[in-house]
Amino acid sequence: MSNRVSVINGPNLNMLGKREPGIYGDLSLTSIHELCTKAGAELGFEIDFHQSNHEGNIIDFLQGANDTAIGVVLNAGAYTHTSVALHDAIRSISIPVIEVHLSNVHAREKFRHKSMISSVCQGVICGFGPNSYKLALQAFAETNNS
Ligand code: DQA
Repeated sequence: MSNRVSVINGPNLNMLGKREPGIYGDLSLTSIHELCTKAGAELGFEIDFHQSNHEGNIIDFLQGANDTAIGVVLNAGAYTHTSVALHDAIRSISIPVIEVHLSNVHAREKFRHKSMISSVCQGVICGFGPNSYKLALQAFAETNNS
């Protein structure tokens, strides 16, 4: 059985560190990758880390993870709020997906309050900055790793 967890990041997350640091913090995506690798290792997971600004690539990452990983931590960025295609992709795979956000989307603009993917995810973690990823990995370990 694989011990691989796929961490998938959507649009504009490649800009972390430079992008609105007052909201998203000053850690780069590379640093978040390192944080996930370290937190994953402590939990016994190998981490596959991906980012794309393109919706279709994120779907490809999800479908690929279904063959290679035991679960997904997904920060879909703005596609969270818009994408029926991501909703369908998550429904179509058999491994659990945990939705994460750096910011507390519910404390922000109204258009961020709606998620197209929450209803097909195992759970949602938001508002803890980079620790949202770590908490998602911990939650995954405690609920799915028997
Ligand atoms: C985000 C929240 C989204 O609303 C936004 O579009 C992002 C980042 C977050 O991690 O806080 O790109 O997913």
